[in-house]
Formats: sequence, structure tokens, C-alpha cells
Amino acid sequence: MEKPLWLNPHFFPLLLAILFFLLQPSLSASDYVRQPPRKVVVTQHHRSKSDPQQVHTSLAGKDYMRISWITDDKDVPSKVEYGTVSGQYNAMAVGDHTSYHYFFYSSGKIHHVNIGPLEPSTTYYYRCGGHGPEFSFKTPPPTLPIEFVVLGDLGQTEWTASTLSHVDSKDYDVFISPGDLSYADTQQLLWDSFGRLVEPYASRRPWMVTEGNHEMEIFPIIYPHGFKAYNARWLMPYQESGSTSNLYYSFDVAGSHVIMLGSYTDFDDDSVQYKWLQSDLAKVDRKKTPWVIVVLHAPWYNTNLAHKGEGESMRKAMEDLLYKARVDVVFAGHVHAYERFTRIYDNKADPCGPVYITIGDGGNREGLALMFENPASELSVYREPSFGHGRLRVVDESRAHWSWHRNNDSDSFVADEAWLQSLTTTKSCWLYPGNTDDSMVKKDEL
Ligand SMILES: [Fe+2]
Repeated sequence: MEKPLWLNPHFFPLLLAILFFLLQPSLSASDYVRQPPRKVVVTQHHRSKSDPQQVHTSLAGKDYMRISWITDDKDVPSKVEYGTVSGQYNAMAVGDHTSYHYFFYSSGKIHHVNIGPLEPSTTYYYRCGGHGPEFSFKTPPPTLPIEFVVLGDLGQTEWTASTLSHVDSKDYDVFISPGDLSYADTQQLLWDSFGRLVEPYASRRPWMVTEGNHEMEIFPIIYPHGFKAYNARWLMPYQESGSTSNLYYSFDVAGSHVIMLGSYTDFDDDSVQYKWLQSDLAKVDRKKTPWVIVVLHAPWYNTNLAHKGEGESMRKAMEDLLYKARVDVVFAGHVHAYERFTRIYDNKADPCGPVYITIGDGGNREGLALMFENPASELSVYREPSFGHGRLRVVDESRAHWSWHRNNDSDSFVADEAWLQSLTTTKSCWLYPGNTDDSMVKKDEL
């Protein structure tokens, strides 16, 4: 007599597999149920007054990292002890400190200490100010491949925490943000809370940021220039890159030249930023850094109804510079949605223009920008108003893989991905009138 089906040893595994398949949530963009904004998370201070808080790291010139932190105790020295073995600090560096006032708020002592020279791809353990817990970070690799996490408009909500936990679930080398960090919006205690929220991540990998509109905090007559908190807390390597302003700078890391521009400072062709960008682009050596990446806040290309046209005057001023330099990709934030464009120059598809990507969907309290223009522009390849983060894995001098990871409630899902080819290895893009440097062509012909 034949055995009943359920006594077959393969029956239950097969049944489970079928059930698993049937119960999988549908994850296509059209079916995904978008979540409303979630509440602000205030991250409390639980350490002593002399212990470091809000620890974060950033790249600070070749083979150097900057450690930044805040203490309530003003007597704590701005020194960092570090080494490659936990608890054994055989090196020490002394740095600088600052503080600021904003109306009735007085910041703690804000320390910035550069340490190095450091070995690449190495884990260092460090202690700040001679007090408190040990932290560690890993230095980026010396050459490609490298993986960037790209994430804008973070804020400090439950969605932010969710996005950061997704970021943390897979290793990466350098964190890049196109701005709008804390959404403190003049409430200075929220800057402190934001620093504490991101410390577990920003103390372990370099965080390279540029400013958004939420960093401005301008108040007429009293604080006419703005960026008081941002500049004091998020000191970036502007001096190391020949810039005179913390609002724009550049850095090299593992075959990539990354330019962080300022959407909220002067950018016209007679501005200091424009001239700095011109000279920075002129210095790029595509043999050393075949990838050139630009990061700014207000997108130059955007088919969302939110913030439509806000990046247009900057685009008109600077697009030519990026195009002639054959910039590979431009990341922006500001619009709380994800959008990837094709290669563009002057509102037309152009194989030698940058790929434009808007990634302003980190999770802030304002929620998502749900409305896109219809019909969709043919320049816009993929667009979706969901929270998430992006990853750019630069594999070698010619290939990079871009992926956008949408936040599903407790997991993250790759909703969009694409392979990019560096313009360095696209021979036809270097044969334009007036180009006297044919080195790219020779390189491609090898
Ligand atoms: Fe913004």
C-alpha cells in the first residue's frame, strides 16, 4: 500500500517552502505601502561630564582621521590616545577645541583632534580626553574597491534609527551625506541629541557631510551668516583641500575624488566657491582617482513636486564645470524621496554627463515627498518616495555598483540598482574641442 503523502520525508520541507513563497510580502514599488513620518527620538546623555559624547570621525587629509567629540567638562584636554590593540594606546595626538553660543544655549567643549599617519584598512582603538569608553574605527582601503554609504536628510526619528540600523547591517568604508543632519532648526539641544544618536555609527566609520538648509539657523542681525552649530560640530577637511570654508571641500579616498559642494553659500561664477571648484577640478588626476563624485544638497535635476527648481540657479552656474571635468555622479538630498536619472547635461541625456541621484530619504520628521510630476521625464530612470539609503561600491577604475535600499519596516530591500561606468574609461568623452589633455585617451587605448 502506498504511504500517505504527509509521511513522505520531503513533504513538510516542500510545504514550508510553498508557504514561505506565498506569504512573502509583495515588494514591488507600486505595491509597497508607504509609512507616515514617525516621532522624533531624543537621545539622552548617560555618561559623566568629563566623558566624551557625540563622538564622530572624518577623513582629514592623506592617512589622517579627525576625531570630534563634546564634553560638558571644560577642563578635559583635547587629546586622543590610540593604537591597533584594544586598551593599548601607543600613540597620542593633541588637537583643538571650540564652543559656541546660540541665544541662551551654550555648547559643551567641542574637541577636534587629527590623528595619524594611519595604516589603511586597519582597525584602531581610541580614547578621547583620557576619560570614558574606548571606541574603534576602521580606516578606508588604500585602493579600490571601496564602498560608500550615501544618505541624506537624516533627522532623528524612529525612521532615522531604522535607516541607520540597516546601514550598519552590512559593512562599508565611508559614510557620505548631502546634508540636513539633525533637523535641530535652532533648538540646539537637538544637535546634542543627534550627535548621541549617530555616535555608534559615526565613531566607527568616517562621516563626510555637507550642509543642507536645516543647518543654516540664520537669525537676522544676530546670526546673519548662520551655520554656527554645523561649523563648530561638523568640522570637515576644508583646509586640507584648499578651501576657505567648511561649507565646501573635497577629499581623495581609494581611487575616488569626492567634492562636497555648498548649496547655501555663494556659487556664481565670481564666487569664492566657484573659483575653488574650478581649481579643485583642474587638480584631479584621473590616473590616481578615476572616479569623481560630487555631493550637494538641493538637486539640480528633480521631477518631484517638492523643492522643484530650487537647485536651478546653482545648476546654471556650475553645471558646465562638472560636465567638462567629466564628473561621474552627482548625489543630492533635500527632496525626501529617491530618484535616479540617466547621464545628463543641460537638461538632455548626454553619455558624458554625470548620473544624478537624489537620496534625501534618510527618515526625518517631515516625512516623504510623495508627489512626482506626471508624465515622468524620460531622463528619470527610477523614482520612489520611500525611506532608505544608498550604497556605491566602486569596484575598479571603470565599474561601480549603485544600489538603493528601501526601508521596509524591519528589513531593507534593494529596490533599485545599476552598474555605472566611469567616464575615465569612456574614450569618446575626452575628445572634445579645447581639451588639451589626451591622457585619458591614451590610458583607454592601453
Ligand atoms: Fe533640505
